[in-house]
Amino acid sequence: MQDATDRFVLRNLPAAPRLVIAVFLVAVGIGYLSALVQLHFQHAPSGTLLPGPEESLAAYHGRAGVSELERLIEADESNPFNGSGSMRPAFTSKSAGWKQAVRKKSVEEIQKIREVRDGERLALIDWIHRGASKEDYDQDGYPLPPELAGKPITEEYIAKDDNGKPFNPPRVKIQSILNDRCVRCHSANKTGTPAQFPLDSYEDVALYLEPETGGGMSLTKLAQSTHAHLLSFAVLFGLTGLAFSFTSYPSWVRGLLGPFTLVAQVVDIGCWWLARGDPVFAQALQVTGMLVAGSLVVQILGTLWSMYGGAGRTVLVCLLLAAAGGAAVLHREVLVPYLEHERANPEMRDTGALTRPRHP
Ligand code: HEC
Repeated sequence: MQDATDRFVLRNLPAAPRLVIAVFLVAVGIGYLSALVQLHFQHAPSGTLLPGPEESLAAYHGRAGVSELERLIEADESNPFNGSGSMRPAFTSKSAGWKQAVRKKSVEEIQKIREVRDGERLALIDWIHRGASKEDYDQDGYPLPPELAGKPITEEYIAKDDNGKPFNPPRVKIQSILNDRCVRCHSANKTGTPAQFPLDSYEDVALYLEPETGGGMSLTKLAQSTHAHLLSFAVLFGLTGLAFSFTSYPSWVRGLLGPFTLVAQVVDIGCWWLARGDPVFAQALQVTGMLVAGSLVVQILGTLWSMYGGAGRTVLVCLLLAAAGGAAVLHREVLVPYLEHERANPEMRDTGALTRPRHP
């Protein structure tokens, strides 16, 4: 604090601007916390707070050799219902008329429904594994291999011959399944975000059948996400860094920590892109994310601390203790029970308007 006299420091500002800066810093802190809540709903599996290495890998790298479509209908239902999580609930809880289908049904009956719905999914995966032929799609009848032929599947998706008899081996109406389960959201004629990723025709579907060599997320999505995040973070972390650089800490501390949050954020976003090629960068996201959060906390608390003298600091410590106490109570009373509840009921989670397109 030796050089505080001969250069501009926040501490010497009048009370009003200091108050504005203090409120701004607190608001950024709260905003960042709510971004973490958003991250939970977008990328974390039910029952866990934040996405782990596996979710980062699926979102940013994909699974080598597996197409995006297959990955999305194979991923566990507990993952968020979006392009980096799982589309599996499209066969069950997110299918048209699911509520009516399971209303007043016993557990066994619901289990049966789930089994035949899963038959649709398995047939689709099998069709993909065997080259996803356009012919089978066009004639809406995919001959099932022996290992799937006897499995339960929704009756209406079994193709019939001219005499109304099922074929032998049975043929599954792949196109109808895709139309009923997916196109109701993913159609160029619909509104909402899924309409941006239409699955109306074989050509549309084929776009998602390329084995992912890298990149879980589509390039459009990644570019969208990059510009939205980078522009807002540049302003926010630029300002928190700027405020920190006008504190009275030694110059090396200010020089290091002032730009740190923004640099870490840029590296983090850089890793989103690099992860398309190399999964190591998807793992690195765990570290860069922590660096951003950690240095933001240091900037906010460090700046607040240095802006005030004895009385102000006492108030600050009291407020922090109160916040920590509140956070502990919130954690015990709200967060932990909520996550437990979510783990037990994966389908309860709704990621908001994004995944709630208006359907008849
Ligand atoms: C209830 C609506 C709904 C249904 C039904 C549905 N999806 Fe989705 N789908 C979404 C939403 C929402 C997203 C996330 C869109 C976004 O990134 O904003 C999504 C994303 C996707 C993506 C990623 C697109 C991209 O490039 O990011 C694919 C692929 C996809 N769905 C395939 C399917 C398949 C296959 C089915 C049928 C088994 C299906 N979806 C059924 C709503 C739906």
